[in-house]
Amino acid sequence: MTEHELVQMALAAREQAYAPYSNFRVGAALLCSDGNVYTGCNIENASYPCGICAERTAAAKAISEGHTAFEALAVVGSSQKICTPCGLCRQFLFEFAPGLKVLCAAADGSYKVYCLSDLLKGAFGGKSMP
Ligand code: THU
Repeated sequence: MTEHELVQMALAAREQAYAPYSNFRVGAALLCSDGNVYTGCNIENASYPCGICAERTAAAKAISEGHTAFEALAVVGSSQKICTPCGLCRQFLFEFAPGLKVLCAAADGSYKVYCLSDLLKGAFGGKSMP
């Protein structure tokens, strides 16, 4: 699985987005250490806070199938600006993979690579827990 392929999977997952309120469609693809890939899209709701981001959809699918070791995540939104995970998703993912490689893609498939711990400086959790 190349970085390019993971981004392409995120782009494909974006097709399933349910985003009638924001019209901002997002797709994510999460590569697990065992080679499995779980994809996700954002799913909005008339009661706005009920919505879930693409990244957490993908992570919840993986975790609920017993896969909690994450290698890389690709995320793509609907604009030519790269899409970076929101704060909630950063914290959610940090729980399982502080060193996660995050491929933040633009709609044309170009992307920048970040490390999750750089995106969430001074994160709560992990070694700071009692
Ligand atoms: N969204 C994601 O799915 N992932 C992100 O990284 C940023 C935001 C979703 C949430 C909401 O459905 C829409 O994009 C607009 O914020």
